[in-house]
Amino acid sequence: MAIPKAELHLHIEGTLEPELAFELAERNGIELPFDSVEELRRAYSFTDLQSFLDLYYALMSVLRTEQDFADLAAAYLERAAAQGVRHAEIFFDPQAHTSRGVAIGTVVTGLARALEDAERSLGISSRLILCFLRDRPAEEAMETLESARPHLHAITGVGLDSAEIGNPPEKFREVFAAARAAGLRRVAHAGEEGPADYVRQALDVLGAERIDHGVRCLEDPELVERLRREAVPLTVCPFSNVRLRVVERLEEHPLPKLIGAGLVVTVNSDDPAYFGGYVEDNLDGVRRALDLDPETVRELARNSFRAAFLDEERRAELI
Ligand code: HPA
Ligand code: ZN
Repeated sequence: MAIPKAELHLHIEGTLEPELAFELAERNGIELPFDSVEELRRAYSFTDLQSFLDLYYALMSVLRTEQDFADLAAAYLERAAAQGVRHAEIFFDPQAHTSRGVAIGTVVTGLARALEDAERSLGISSRLILCFLRDRPAEEAMETLESARPHLHAITGVGLDSAEIGNPPEKFREVFAAARAAGLRRVAHAGEEGPADYVRQALDVLGAERIDHGVRCLEDPELVERLRREAVPLTVCPFSNVRLRVVERLEEHPLPKLIGAGLVVTVNSDDPAYFGGYVEDNLDGVRRALDLDPETVRELARNSFRAAFLDEERRAELI
């Protein structure tokens, strides 16, 4: 039995398995530039974040209707439940859909329906986190937040993802301030490919409450000390780091250093359909590769509930 845990770093578009991509392509009359599931899987060989993002954005063209988004989230939640996930905080990228003519309401309504169904049928609680694409203009992020206003009852927070280098958190100061004023929680990808200073900016400029990835914080001991003192959780994604060549081999992953520095570390899957495994696969992978003892694994799972945007009653029930 997989250990009970929360998943806090998961892009719903990154759960699109090749089989479902082909099914949705057929349903929507879309031609994919791949002949088969096998050929598509063979394309999952990445050299960096951008090479992954190119395929990730291309493949999501199959997502068009509310039902497509509901089917995508339902498939993820079923797999997650089988991997011991009791609570999931799910990122989605509205701009990757609105730019193709899919309305934000279609996306949110479809996802939210599947989340509600899974709470009833699987007992998984969940949240939606709207991510801004950092390689798009800041004005577009603000328009996205405005267009999300009618749906904020279904959205817990905002995040920041896509191509990191050259797109510092500073660029999104205003939109994060507006999100905060609207009562939304805040997270941001930082220190994945980008420098440690982006982690500091995410905290100081965006008011980020968790850092997604954050592994490059280790290049700045003062920052590490601050993350420890302020107990800022890091949502680390080991398989992603290896597949996107942030880390060469799982055996060399800095997870033990982050844990050893006293940080609130969690293990997550990021884009499991692309990176070779869901959250329990990641946890089991690092346990073996880094020879983690059972108590360390239990602590990683407890951290996932501590770092989640849960009410205290549900947290106490899960921890
Ligand atoms: N980093 C940045 N953007 C992303 C990622 C990631 O790991 N996954 C999906 N969008
Ligand atoms: Zn991510």
